[in-house]
Amino acid sequence: MANKVAIVTGGGQGIGEGIALRLAKDGYAVVVNGRTQSKLDNVVQKIKDAGGEAITFAGDVQFKAVNEEMVAFALKEYGRLDVFVANAGIDWVDTIEETPEQQVDNVLNINLKSQIWALQTAPAAMRQNGEQGGSIVLASSIAGMEGFEMLGIYSATKFATRGLVQAAAKELAVDNIRVNAYNPGIVLTPMWDEIDARFAERKNVPLGSTRQAFVDSILLGRGEQPDDIAKYVSFLVSDQADYITGQSLAVDGGIKFQ
Ligand SMILES: NC(=O)c1ccc[n+]([C@@H]2O[C@H](COP(=O)([O-])OP(=O)(O)OC[C@H]3O[C@@H](n4cnc5c(N)ncnc54)[C@H](O)[C@@H]3O)[C@@H](O)[C@H]2O)c1
Repeated sequence: MANKVAIVTGGGQGIGEGIALRLAKDGYAVVVNGRTQSKLDNVVQKIKDAGGEAITFAGDVQFKAVNEEMVAFALKEYGRLDVFVANAGIDWVDTIEETPEQQVDNVLNINLKSQIWALQTAPAAMRQNGEQGGSIVLASSIAGMEGFEMLGIYSATKFATRGLVQAAAKELAVDNIRVNAYNPGIVLTPMWDEIDARFAERKNVPLGSTRQAFVDSILLGRGEQPDDIAKYVSFLVSDQADYITGQSLAVDGGIKFQ
């Protein structure tokens, strides 16, 4: 039985990988979820090489049953669940008017429903920790603080995340289960490669120019790295943040102001 156990969804690359590596460094046994087994194996190997503990759980978190199986897997493998980071998400770059129905469904199912399933499946496991409770962290975005052109459906899901965080925090505080979100800015992950490429195609602008314009707007003068989010999540799930719940914070180097 591990001392502290975390699930991180979408952990095969980008922000999720950064969070998985960081929580393992903090002493968590980490269940690393994603859809591509080879990427998950790679992250688990990095964690083990650094002396940490982790295991893969491949599965598509848009389905409730996958979340149920993943929580059961964490309990079977490690004996408890302390932290659930619902990080998995996808973008779709298009005007609202022109977004195909299939893509609307994909973005809503993967970004929003997966977070609802996290909030439906993690609490029962965390209640087994008694007074220690647990911590659920959802991925929102600066696009969940202001609607972004060409990212309307995506923005809608990230606004919804903040609503879920507030309602779930109110429902779960009685069990000392805290619920919060991180709102990344312009994180230089494969997701931004995709967004930039789609903007280039749809708006007929040079490759790289959209990302650069956004990065130029950051007060701290550099694009964000996964570890910038991972450091915040490390704090958020720790005892240092045991009085923080129901919050969605911009961790963006200074783009959006609440
Ligand atoms: N990159 C940014 O600038 C940025 C900004 C704001 C918010 N975010 C949010 O942060 C989170 C992580 O973003 P990222 O930049 O690391 O993205 P990314 O595309 O680089 O990585 C996301 C990971 O999630 C996985 N994933 C996608 N759908 C999944 C599903 N249905 N089931 C399981 N795994 C799935 C992908 O395979 C991928 O490994 C997302 O929720 C994203 O919306 C990112």
